[in-house]
Amino acid sequence: MSQHHKPDAMNILLIEDLPIYIRIISKILQNTHTTLEVAQSLAEALEKTQITAYDAILLDLGLPDSRGIDTFNSISSGCTATPIIILSSTDDETIAVQALKNGAQDYLIKGSYLTDETVGSVLLLRSISYAIERQRIQKELLLERSSLEQRVKDRTRELEEANLRLQNLATCLVSAQEDERRRISMELHDEAGQFLTALGLNLDLIRAEIETQSPSLVNLISEAKHITETIMSKLRSLAHDLRPPAIDTVGLSQALQDHCRKISRQTKLDVCFSAIAAANLPKHIQLSLYRVVQEALTNAIKHANASRIDISLESDAEYATLSVEDDGCGFNLPRELTPDSMGGIGLLGIEDRIEAIGGSLTISTQPGKGTSLFVKIPLPERP
Ligand SMILES: Nc1ncnc2c1ncn2[C@@H]1O[C@H](COP(=O)(O)OP(=O)(O)OP(=O)(O)O)[C@@H](O)[C@H]1O
Ligand SMILES: [Mg+2]
Repeated sequence: MSQHHKPDAMNILLIEDLPIYIRIISKILQNTHTTLEVAQSLAEALEKTQITAYDAILLDLGLPDSRGIDTFNSISSGCTATPIIILSSTDDETIAVQALKNGAQDYLIKGSYLTDETVGSVLLLRSISYAIERQRIQKELLLERSSLEQRVKDRTRELEEANLRLQNLATCLVSAQEDERRRISMELHDEAGQFLTALGLNLDLIRAEIETQSPSLVNLISEAKHITETIMSKLRSLAHDLRPPAIDTVGLSQALQDHCRKISRQTKLDVCFSAIAAANLPKHIQLSLYRVVQEALTNAIKHANASRIDISLESDAEYATLSVEDDGCGFNLPRELTPDSMGGIGLLGIEDRIEAIGGSLTISTQPGKGTSLFVKIPLPERP
């Protein structure tokens, strides 16, 4: 055993009522830099442990005022930081083992060996020093464990807070985008719309003025009037698309169903929508999914020359998933999606929007093989 573990200058309490053992143990310890104090009853021992913090306690379980395991429990509950070594007579070994289970560090059977000075000294000192060392390690382990538990708790709380902040940020982001769209929609409708209406009226006036004088100019003006009306109708539908969908009132499934019916009517395309368990998704996720369908349908109409489009929305406890599949011409998907490589910003906008709320977008397409978009969004845990 190393020097480090030697019980130098230790303060030890011997709780023992039999004078013979008090004598023997005092003798063993007398040349060992230990101070030995003796208590001959439980009451006296409790009094002493209240005043002094001992390095170790040697405890006989059979005292005039207490017997058996109760003796150990009384002493140990008063000084949990002090290692206790049971001094047991041969016939109460089971109680000594019980005391070990309750936290005693060691037990020594009081027998003839204690009367042999050399053997007794080695055994007793080793038992004391082991007991102290074990107690110290246990204490450190306990401290380490509670500091680990605290760190786990802290990290868990930090993660929960970060998650909440991310969620709030995602919600803010989506609602900022929607506010911006609403503003642009109003601007298009009110500002640009008013000017175009005025332009149309002016064209009518000019046409009436020159109707009789210059038939060729009248034709040009009629054409200009027609262009104006086309722009107006395009602007109106753009402004309409930009307006937030009626998710609040009818819910996402119904809003999508309505949108699909409208597109189907306008384009004569087969637009099929199905939803499974997709009620009560968080508002920002509903809005994002709606915008994905809007852009995907516009693309299918503009680029795909498709005859059928299938949209399916599904959610479980963990994810909301959406797929939009058309049977159109498909396209060569660039390795990297950039405004240059894509030629537009619709799909990029979808990708940004979905990634901002922690989801993923997968595009699957090939020339001649149609185009499919898959979106998967993790749902926040419900309390
Ligand atoms: N469903 C589709 N079928 C065939 N080609 C498609 C489809 N969707 C997208 N594409 C191709 O990918 C390109 C990029 O689409 P994206 O939506 O990003 O831009 P865009 O539609 O051209 O313009 P915008 O910025 O108005 O959306 C399109 O120009 C088209 O070539
Ligand atoms: Mg597009």
